[in-house]
Parts: sequence; C-alpha cells; structure tokens
Amino acid sequence: MSSNFKLLVKNAKQVVLVCKNGERYLTKDGMQNLAVIENGSVIIGHDGLIKAVGNAESIEAQFRAAVFDKVLDATGMCVLPGLVDAHTHPVWAGDRVHEFAMKLAGATYMQVHEAGGGIHFTVSHTCAASPESLLEGLRGRLERMLRAGTTLAECKSGYGLELHTELKMLSVIEAARRNMPIGISSTYCGAHAVPRGKTMEEATEDVLSVQLPAIQKQIAAGNLNVDNIDVFCERGVFDLSATRRILQAGKDMGLNINFHGDELHPMNSAQLGAQLGALAISHLEEVTDEGIAAMATTKTSAVLLPTTAYILRLPCPRARDMLDAGVIVSLGSDFNPNAYCCSMPLVMHLACVTLQMSMPEALAAATINAAYALKRSHSHGSLEPTKQGDLLIINAPRWEHLIYQFGSHQELIRFVIIKGNIV
Ligand code: NIG
Ligand code: FE
Repeated sequence: MSSNFKLLVKNAKQVVLVCKNGERYLTKDGMQNLAVIENGSVIIGHDGLIKAVGNAESIEAQFRAAVFDKVLDATGMCVLPGLVDAHTHPVWAGDRVHEFAMKLAGATYMQVHEAGGGIHFTVSHTCAASPESLLEGLRGRLERMLRAGTTLAECKSGYGLELHTELKMLSVIEAARRNMPIGISSTYCGAHAVPRGKTMEEATEDVLSVQLPAIQKQIAAGNLNVDNIDVFCERGVFDLSATRRILQAGKDMGLNINFHGDELHPMNSAQLGAQLGALAISHLEEVTDEGIAAMATTKTSAVLLPTTAYILRLPCPRARDMLDAGVIVSLGSDFNPNAYCCSMPLVMHLACVTLQMSMPEALAAATINAAYALKRSHSHGSLEPTKQGDLLIINAPRWEHLIYQFGSHQELIRFVIIKGNIV
C-alpha cells in the first residue's frame, strides 16, 4: 500500500513552533512569547514540507487512517525547528591555531592581520588549495554543523580576494549545495580584505570591474547560485564609500546585501546598510544609537556573532538595546579560522550569558530571524504547515535544554531531520 506521508513524529513532550501565524520575523515581544505545543506531533509529506503540526491527540484523531513511511515516537523528547546559522566562512585551507596563542598573549585581531596573518594567512593557503581538498574540508564542517542542529547555513567566499580563487570557493559551495542535505545560502565576499600589494582603491576596482561581472556570467550560465553580497567595512579594510559602491553593484545584480559592519570601530555601517536596503548586517559591536534606530526602521536584521566578541575579547554587541529598539536580531556562528565554532547551540548559550538574551529570544534569533536574514523565512525557521520539514528532536523534557546544556550536544540531539529525512 502506498503511504500518504513521509514522516510522523508523535507524542513529543514539547513541539516548539517558534511562530504560528506566518510571521516572517519576530521582534522583542514575539521573541519572548514563542509558540510551543505541549504534547505534540508533526507530519511531513513526500514533498518534504510540513503538512500538520499540533496537539498529539488531535493529530492522531485527524490522521488515524493515514499511512506513513516512517514513525518516530518522541515520547519524553522535544521537537524544535532546524537551526539556521546566518553567518559562516566555512571554505578555507590552513588553520590558525598558532594565532590563538598570539591572541591569548594579547595581540589584537588587527595586529595579527597587519602582520600578514589573519585573513591573509588563510588567503594564501586557500589560493594554493585544490577545489577537491577545499570541498572535502567544507563537507566535514557542514557535517559538524548538521550534527549540532544546523539545517540551513549561510556560506561565504572571501579567502581568494581575486577572481580565480573567489570563483573556486563559490563553485565549492555550489557543489555542497547540490550534493549535501544541509540548506545553503551562498555569499560572495570578494571584498573581505585588501590583497597584499594592492590599495583599497585597486581592490575595489578589481571587485567591481573584474570579479562581479565574471560571477554574474557564471550565475547567468546556470553554473553558480549566489544569494548575497558581503564586504568587510572596517578601518584599514574597506571604507564606507568603497563598501557603498560594492554593495550597490551587488544589489544591482540581484544579490541581497548582508555585510560585516561596525565590528572594531564605529563606521556608520548600520546607517549605510539601512540606506542601501540591506537585508542584514553582521557584528555591530561598535554600532551607534543612530545605527540601531536606522536598522529598526528599515527592518535590516542585526546578525550577532557572540563567538567572535568572546574570542577577540571585544565589547559585546548591544543585543538588549537592539531588541528594545525593535531590531530583528538574529545569530550566527561566524565559523572561520579565527572563531572555530560550528555549534549554534553554543552560540545561543553565549548569546544568553554574554549578550543578556533570554533563551526564547536566542532560539528565535537562531531560527526565524536568521532565516529572515537569509531571505528564507517564507520556507524556513519555524514549524508551520507548508514550510520545509527541517527539525531537531532532542532527548530532554524541555526545549531549553538545547541552550542550557553546553558543550555536549552530541548526546542531546537525537535526530536531525531535513525535508522529512533523517540525516
Ligand atoms: O566575521 N571580520 C571579518 N571577517 C571574519 C573573520 C575572518 C577571518 O579572520 O578569517 C569575521 O570575524
Ligand atoms: Fe565573518
């Protein structure tokens, strides 16, 4: 007999929907009042989409005659939406463990960078690496993210800084997108640093007249999908006017603006992003009150990265001020050779302890709001009918254990499900 549905997850102690009225993002009040069903079930169809979610008894009564490919009994466990990581740099060769020691001894991020380390170190190793070895590294990292509950991740290029390697990185991301279950939103970040031996003006010209047109050709030929454009807008990297030109050119190509701003110095990046209609701005440790107000007005999401502030001992981004102002706060791991963390549960934990977010706020920031920052919140980020069937089942009696228990999510996350398939 052919089945009606792909998967039934039944009798979970809690099912965290996050939202239930088709909201595309949540601000403070909504983040503090997540939709949760006590004793719930979820049904996913053959198309990988959620068909029903609700109280276990009513689902049972409504679908009594239905046949499922698979039934998971989640008695005593909790179901949450798959986590969304809104900011990662997962394609690179050559780790930077030696720099961790330098930073522990007091070197700042920019001191390491200016001494030829940091992004430059990773660029030279990534330029020399084969696409096959980069893909192998990426696969392992995405696999780790998946085990930690991430079902959709933003993935940046940006360790090439010239056309050949930027294209190599984007092609590696494309190969992972086509062959791995995890969802990917891909970002061109050719303006991640000024290449050694070039001025900012020369690097900007190269991005505008060489790299972006070539990437556009690859997109048009169907060889690449690129969703977003990113620039590292920072003193000593790309200034406000270069950042504006590059982001505008990307926007004109149809890319979403999602960039690094106001990280180490107040640059008015947030105001610039708001003017350009940016979907998201990351970091924001040094954002001003005006920047916060501008982002709230334009619905530009603030992607906060607590791992980076932690490891670089930066001032913490002002999550509470942003939430109070009505900014759409989301979270990312910033996974990169500086901040070697693939785990969104740990990121949520840090967001609670170091940024003073509550657990419901952190979960909303790592699901519906992170999906919004990637323009995917119509299909991801909450457990609602018609959305993609991406969810986690954790072996704990309350969902907050995903944040409360830290450093051991392998024990806690029993199943990761993408499009109704256990992965
Ligand atoms: O988001 N700040 C710029 N970019 C990355 C770090 C990249 C690197 O150090 O390799 C970030 O933290
Ligand atoms: Fe980053």
